Amino acid sequence: MFQDQLVSYSGVQPSGNLTIGNYLGAIRNFSTYSEKYKCFYCVVDEHAITVRQNPAELRRRTYETLALYMACGLDPDKNTLYVQSHVHEHAELAWILNCYTMFGELSRMTQFKDKSSKHSDNINAGLFTYPTLMAADILLYQTDVVPVGIDQKQHVELCRDIAERFNQLYPCTFTVPEPIIAKSGMKIMSLADPTKKMSKSDENVNAVVYILDDRDTIIRKFKRAVTDSETCVRFAEGKDGINNLISIYSCFTGKSFDEIEKEFAGKGYGDFKLAVGEVCADALSPVQEKFRELLSDKAALEAQMRKGAEEASYYARRTLGKVQKKLGFVKL
Ligand code: TYM
Repeated sequence: MFQDQLVSYSGVQPSGNLTIGNYLGAIRNFSTYSEKYKCFYCVVDEHAITVRQNPAELRRRTYETLALYMACGLDPDKNTLYVQSHVHEHAELAWILNCYTMFGELSRMTQFKDKSSKHSDNINAGLFTYPTLMAADILLYQTDVVPVGIDQKQHVELCRDIAERFNQLYPCTFTVPEPIIAKSGMKIMSLADPTKKMSKSDENVNAVVYILDDRDTIIRKFKRAVTDSETCVRFAEGKDGINNLISIYSCFTGKSFDEIEKEFAGKGYGDFKLAVGEVCADALSPVQEKFRELLSDKAALEAQMRKGAEEASYYARRTLGKVQKKLGFVKL
């Protein structure tokens, strides 16, 4: 909380083309906080370099992610939208928090285990301490709520532990944040292997629906989605592919699982897959249109980045100053 205002904070890595998992699990929900909360939504480029990035692509995706935030309905006058590397306090607080985070805690992070097995030639220290940078992001803004998909819950819980540990040593430094995980859309699965999370780094492009995929591509990907040998559209254990499609359809239409089962009673998987593709394409079409318009004006995006960084820095500076004072750093 900052000056009696509740704070919502979240971030997205510009490390690949964003997926409907990012959209349904996170970005789409960010704007629900704009009225009651002071909101900060960050393009976390410093997190992205824990895995090797092509510099030109990272730069392009940083602009694109900011434009997508706005295209998904985040009004820059009601939300502070900014790029992480423009606010140096993130890296500074992350160093401090590294000294209050245990090796054992970081070793238990499932994302570290996954990513270090995927990138076994580059298990760098940043990949390991990634969650302390994420804790710094969140704690700099005295955050109350962190809307994320379920895969980030463990990181937010570690952030809470770090904040509580720090507050015990230096009382009243940080607000202890709560993860907010949307009931529907918290874990959208791969269309090719529905036991795996849909991920922007998946090499199989048919496994993933990107926010910017065109209508035909979206429909084709859903048509190819892996299901099972039954024909009945129902949510049940062991039907991972169909369960995933029902969840996606529910996210886009607002219909309950029961309603969806009734709607498709007597119809086959082909009809259902087509319907999922169509509602997805319909929902993304205005986002894509707005995105293209925003991306065509780079100067306006840069002005937005500058404004966001100035706003964010004001808050970040205050928290970092407070932390440094409590630690005993000399202020000149
Ligand atoms: P990232 O960039 O991997 O994902 C951004 C957001 O999208 C959610 N998400 C999903 N939700 C549902 N189904 C999926 N298949 C799916 N894939 C991704 C993620 O849960 C996330 O909310 N470490 C974070 C970025 C970050 C951050 C932060 C988040 C850095 N600092 C501070 C919150 C607060 C990450 O890698 O997200």
